[in-house]
Amino acid sequence: MKKIAILTSGGDAPGMNAAIRAVVRTALNNNMETYGIKRGYAGLVEGNLELLTSRMVSGILQQAGTILGSSRCPEFKESDVRQRALNQLREQGIEGLVVIGGNGTQMGSYALSQEGFPVIGIASTIDNDLVGSEITLGVDTAINVALESVDRLKVTAASHRRAIVVEVMGRDCGYIALMTGLASGAEAILIPEDEIPFEEIVTRIKKAYQQGKSNALIVVAEGSRHNVQELVQSLKPFEADLGFHIRFTILGHVQRGGVPTLFDRVMAARMGVRAVELLMQDQANVLVGLENQKIKETPFREIAGKQKKLDLDLLRISTILDQ
Ligand code: F6P
Repeated sequence: MKKIAILTSGGDAPGMNAAIRAVVRTALNNNMETYGIKRGYAGLVEGNLELLTSRMVSGILQQAGTILGSSRCPEFKESDVRQRALNQLREQGIEGLVVIGGNGTQMGSYALSQEGFPVIGIASTIDNDLVGSEITLGVDTAINVALESVDRLKVTAASHRRAIVVEVMGRDCGYIALMTGLASGAEAILIPEDEIPFEEIVTRIKKAYQQGKSNALIVVAEGSRHNVQELVQSLKPFEADLGFHIRFTILGHVQRGGVPTLFDRVMAARMGVRAVELLMQDQANVLVGLENQKIKETPFREIAGKQKKLDLDLLRISTILDQ
């Protein structure tokens, strides 16, 4: 194999750039060229490719985002759109493709691989919902950004004796909320995998006040059935009874822009190297992820369309510690 291509797709995640660098440099080490595809699958369909040199990936290790750009490309579910993408790859003489992204993105990888094109996926999404990787690239940075923000919110909430409701990202998965909530000592963590009723939220806030706490923290996953703004509207009439006044914050995209942590940079390096080595060994059509702290590949057919299960024991631990 002499010519490979790489793209990043879906929501960007810190560490994607480190993975791009690792792929380009591993390929160069093996006398292979890497072409960067701009704006994910959308750019692939348009044939928007350029040769990446070693210098072009210098200094990007510590940058969040993706130098290649990303996009959401729902049209890629259509077979004729994928055929156009495959034609572009073949016309440019590309022999293998590395795709960095999350669940939706790797469905695209699977579809391309089913058409006979060698694809390697690198598991990367801040949501951590991808089967085949106990933790995905970008998660460590995102949860640390969320945690730092929540720690700050607790400081001001404590000064004013308030209850603070914070929404974190994660799409349909409660991982970011669960980890952030446990690590910041939340009174309640609202996640789609294990919802609690409104009355229970009221009880927990009230209990925190009665126990003499200076603040109460409710961390809400964006996929929870409790919409943050509606929840706060419903809690407001109870403020006198709760003790605390209520404020809310939606963290949003700030969670995707953090400087990649050491963990994410190291994982990106390991995943990028493995991705190229697998292509060289003709072992394509797999997702590269981390299992038991080791880099491991799983066939796309085993992961496609599945959502990773959350360790709900962490929720139990969080409840025990809420005293
Ligand atoms: O998949 C990553 C993610 O940040 C989700 O947590 C969130 O639901 C979504 O992307 C937001 O997407 P967009 O950046 O397209 O608004």
